[in-house]
Amino acid sequence: MQRADTRVELDRALAGRTGGARVAFVPTMGALHDGHVSLMRCAREIVGPDGAVVVSVFVNPTQFGPGEDLDRYPRTLETDLEACAAAGVDVVFTPSVDEVYPGGLEAAARGVTVDPGPLADVLEGASRPGHFRGVLTVVAKLFGLVRPDVSVFGEKDYQQLALIRRMAADLCLGVDVVGAPTVREPDGLAMSSRNRYLDTDARLDAVALSRALFAARAEAERGAEWALSAARAELRRTHLVDLDYLEITAPDLGPAPEHGPARMLVAARVGSTRLIDNIALDLG
Ligand code: PAJ
Repeated sequence: MQRADTRVELDRALAGRTGGARVAFVPTMGALHDGHVSLMRCAREIVGPDGAVVVSVFVNPTQFGPGEDLDRYPRTLETDLEACAAAGVDVVFTPSVDEVYPGGLEAAARGVTVDPGPLADVLEGASRPGHFRGVLTVVAKLFGLVRPDVSVFGEKDYQQLALIRRMAADLCLGVDVVGAPTVREPDGLAMSSRNRYLDTDARLDAVALSRALFAARAEAERGAEWALSAARAELRRTHLVDLDYLEITAPDLGPAPEHGPARMLVAARVGSTRLIDNIALDLG
């Protein structure tokens, strides 16, 4: 496995590696867990043994709002590199903030950014203004640096996946965006780098999010209202869960359909940690 800290090193690593082979890219912010590793495996399956799997580890400041957890976001580079090596990654790109934003963050804020459109104003975007502009801008930059054929993202961040799909299609970026299923802890909690902030009590209560989604899925055959009530009942059983939103939408995040495939999305603060999760529903 090669590690590249700079754009020049990345170019060199890719030139040496690819020789015309397909490149699959998995962007991350590090603090890697089995959810991230599943994306690396998916990337390898897509490009095969002769293709190149590239992972980036970069905590992107521009997608964190004021008062969010940028400073305390977990940074575990040594174990991240081990996880990438064990997953058979070819190149890990670990740039500094200056490498991604030469000229600094203030200059970047005055420069060209990606406008995510109205899909970024709902759900996560409503609670985190500017978040998706930061995500799409850094992902567009990383696509430009890595120039992948395909890039793999988790359904865990469902709205992010939908917006990156739209960006790749609407801006004709030539990158095939692939979604991969959410990896969960044995009790159902969706794996997240932020789970390590949870203390023992909050960890116990955090499972309410996935329980709510599973309860909704079990009731979905009876319709959206039943699914929502089943989910709300699960969330009410806890003390530490402060609900931000619980919504049913179409699979593309448009208005909820009366029947058929839909998505339920939930966000809540558990203790001091904000968690999100989502699940596919089939409304009867
Ligand atoms: P990060 O939160 O590190 O997530 C990196 C990728 O891992 C995302 O595609 C995310 O959806 C996926 N992921 C996280 N938890 C997962 C789980 N339990 N199961 C499956 N996939 C999971 O998302 C970001 O970083 C950033 O916004 C980024 C796209 C890197 C831009 O900075």
